[in-house]
Amino acid sequence: MRTKLFIIHQVEGFQEEIDQAAHIIREGGLVAIPTETVYGLGADALNEDAVRRIYEAKGRPSNNPLIIHVPSADWLEDYCRDVPEVAYRLAEQFWPGPLTMILQAKDVVPKRTTGGLDTVAVRCPSHPVALAIIRAAGVPVAAPSANTSGRPSCTTAQHVIEDMAGKIEGIVDGGDCAVGVESTIIDLTCEPPQLLRPGGMPLEDIQAVIGTVRINGAVTSEPAPGEVPRAPGMAYRHYAPKAPVTVVVGEPERSARFIQANVGRYSGVICFDEFAERYPEQVVQSLGSVEDKAEQARRVFDALRAFDSTQVQEIYAQCPDSDGLGLAVGNRLKKAAGFHVVEVR
Ligand code: TXA
Ligand code: MG
Repeated sequence: MRTKLFIIHQVEGFQEEIDQAAHIIREGGLVAIPTETVYGLGADALNEDAVRRIYEAKGRPSNNPLIIHVPSADWLEDYCRDVPEVAYRLAEQFWPGPLTMILQAKDVVPKRTTGGLDTVAVRCPSHPVALAIIRAAGVPVAAPSANTSGRPSCTTAQHVIEDMAGKIEGIVDGGDCAVGVESTIIDLTCEPPQLLRPGGMPLEDIQAVIGTVRINGAVTSEPAPGEVPRAPGMAYRHYAPKAPVTVVVGEPERSARFIQANVGRYSGVICFDEFAERYPEQVVQSLGSVEDKAEQARRVFDALRAFDSTQVQEIYAQCPDSDGLGLAVGNRLKKAAGFHVVEVR
């Protein structure tokens, strides 16, 4: 299949291209779209055949449900039932933005989209091009991250081309993703609400609006064999470069020293800028300053991907503390490592 590349970095002046991309989605095709978090692999969420093709293109297990993307909170009632008041409060504060809510699904949402569940994940992205395409399509757009299942998520159009060229109808290049990690997922079908996946919206900000949120166990540790976590996607080894990863948790000077003491000639290192010069013989991917978690979030997936084109045989990664966006960055690194974590103290 020939994949058409659209370059649409802004809405103004590009309505024709936006309409073309939306047309492909309405006709049941697959189009990768830019969002502020990561690139998504979009299709009409109400079209079972289109949704089936998402799973095929990604090589994704069919019990791992998709997020539906809507242009505003007004659409919630069309696809969800018994929407609690907190959902509207969160939408009011954080939509459009990197927050996904799990709600009870109405029957119009195909089981193929929800991975067989009675609930559905809903998000309103803030990238203006994504919003314009969804509005023009006039349907909720199912969009998992646009990576091949198991690989690091795509934060640039180039990443999407690597994983999806030839498999889908279109790719919209909307520039590099501003947030860089996927949305935060909150399950509102339980009491208290649960954090299923840390992401681009810090947990502290959500708690400031809705009070206590319980952190699901799959966020911080590996699910036991056979255990099905509430977000089925959290069960899989994920985001993984080809070389095995060891995440080093602890005060940055100590984690840097631990890595220095353990690296060899074929090691790769993911570290904060302040420590990058400590590894002159290794392939180094710098995450940004130890103080700048937003930059770490923007770079983490590209850093993980970059080793695949090198000779590196093992990777050590410094891990930020879990405040703010650090919870999401650390979670992605730990999942990439299959929770192979060393704590230094
Ligand atoms: O930022 C994002 O959320 C990106 C962009 C493209 O919007 N999308 C994304 O989708 O990360 P995906 O499919 O890669 O991750 C969705 C996660 C999976 O772990 C899935 O198991 C979980 O959401 N999920 C989806 N529906 C669910 C549901 N009804 N209940 C629990 N977890 C659900
Ligand atoms: Mg994903």
